Amino acid sequence: MKKIIIDVDTGVDDAMAIMFALAQKQAFDVVAVTCVNGNVDITNVCRNTLRVLKTFDKLEIPVYKGAYKPFLPTSKTEHARHFHGQDGLGGVTWEDEIDTSIIQQEHAVQALIRLVNQSPGEITLVALAPLTNVALALQLDEKFGENLKEMLIMGGNIEGKGNVSLSAEFNFHVDPEAAEMVLQNAKCPVTLVTWETCIYSSLPWDFVNELMTFNSTRAEFFKKIMTTERGLERMKKKMNWGFRSCDLFAILVLFDESVCTEFKEVNACVELQGRWTRGQMVVDWLGRWSEKPNVRIAMKLDTDKVKQYIIDLLK
Ligand code: BDR
Ligand code: CA
Repeated sequence: MKKIIIDVDTGVDDAMAIMFALAQKQAFDVVAVTCVNGNVDITNVCRNTLRVLKTFDKLEIPVYKGAYKPFLPTSKTEHARHFHGQDGLGGVTWEDEIDTSIIQQEHAVQALIRLVNQSPGEITLVALAPLTNVALALQLDEKFGENLKEMLIMGGNIEGKGNVSLSAEFNFHVDPEAAEMVLQNAKCPVTLVTWETCIYSSLPWDFVNELMTFNSTRAEFFKKIMTTERGLERMKKKMNWGFRSCDLFAILVLFDESVCTEFKEVNACVELQGRWTRGQMVVDWLGRWSEKPNVRIAMKLDTDKVKQYIIDLLK
């Protein structure tokens, strides 16, 4: 059983990843969920996170509110409401309210440090959002990184194909300084599931149509957040390679490493200045710097396995 803390900016695909983690009771013990500014503002991120936990009867998992903005924003429009919906969770009108007073009083960064340091070597951090909370924890406490068992990050890119700017992936683009601080200072094994890894693993829309016919609680939740404000037709136009849920794909790699058919250990950093390339991950593919690898990149996913895990989750 892996003890995990999930750091999120919930987000439709963060919601899918949380849902998967909760469903895998034998594999994952979700110790906490920490929230950070990203797809939407921190207030909505916390509310959306509680919404997911409430839907699946897991409100006993503590939710912590974290950083409300990046170190040095790349642009004024850092959120991704156009993609995830105005509230970040598909703009669904829910029948019940969310009681946000149950959000923990302790700051997410303090909670990360406390929880990791009290169980050295036991916690895996699943970082599915801009890395502001994680970078702050590393900066504040020198033991935090070495006390982590490992880190799984959804973020960065390997070919300079951006999903937000021309060349940068959203999570790294929103807070490039944080991403660079984490890559250079993590002090624990880091696995990255990058943007291009996800787009090349996109699934056909026919498969999504099939998922829409399922009627479990999880499938109903998926349908709502996929179709209410976003609309499948609109999503098809936005996701021109096919359907993907990057945060879900990332946690699948943690759950079952054989979902990834090729890993590469490399040294990588984040461009902090480029006029067109700020936030892009730059990889020393040829070992020119002779530096030790600081990340392991999941290069390719087995889409048959990805599909089967999604079916198992939603059927
Ligand atoms: C990442 O950006 C966000 O919009 C998603 O939640 C995911 O974490 C993909 O680039
Ligand atoms: Ca996310």
